[in-house]
Amino acid sequence: MMNKKDHKIILAVDLASQSEAESLLDSLREDLVHVKIGPRLFASGGISFVNRVTEMGFKVFLDLKLHDIPNTVSSAVDYFASRGIWALTVHSAGGATMLQAASSANRSALGEMMLFGVTVLTSLDSGAWEEVNPGCSMQQALWSRAALCAANEMDGIICSPIDLPLLASGFGNRLKMVVPGIRDGESGDDQRRTASPEDALKMGADYLVVGRPILKAASPAKALADMIARTERLS
Ligand code: C5P
Repeated sequence: MMNKKDHKIILAVDLASQSEAESLLDSLREDLVHVKIGPRLFASGGISFVNRVTEMGFKVFLDLKLHDIPNTVSSAVDYFASRGIWALTVHSAGGATMLQAASSANRSALGEMMLFGVTVLTSLDSGAWEEVNPGCSMQQALWSRAALCAANEMDGIICSPIDLPLLASGFGNRLKMVVPGIRDGESGDDQRRTASPEDALKMGADYLVVGRPILKAASPAKALADMIARTERLS
């Protein structure tokens, strides 16, 4: 049995309330290491909620996908950088100067927080992508956004599992590959570019971000343990 610290599942705790989230996290303490907090719980609980989850012993991945002018992003990163957060997301569509401002603010704070750059949302299929980026292929955008993340000192990128054959070969030695869109079969909810945990790991994922397949299971603890066991079989 792999040490609890070695498994690669990050739970996206996308629940309605802080109390619901804390009680679920308490029930998953035995197996869970990394917890992703998104905009709803951050809006309701702010940094105090982040601190409580950290004090419970979890590594917090704060997924705010910051996308704004460089000065605004830099100021936010400066605030988060020394608060014991494991990783924070910025959106690579903000461009090189924004990414550089983020990494420079993070470095200046001398903390240990990592920055991950979002490439293209896993909920966008090619039709939805074309609507907002007419004339640009998603493959080209994925490559150039990952390259910007590498050039501007991101620690990792967020991409879909089906982007891994392209991105892990080009950037896997420099950037951690953090992968949502994890699904078995067709039950993709609003996710469009998906793969199973096994396929995502085989294609080069370093971490799998999983929300509803665990949150909506009859027993989230069992669903998490099963998913960890499935990933262990590959190592
Ligand atoms: O419930 P599900 O497993 O689809 O959750 C995936 C999580 O990963 C969500 O919290 C979502 O915000 C996040 N995410 C994503 N695609 C990205 C970046 C983040 O699904 N490109």
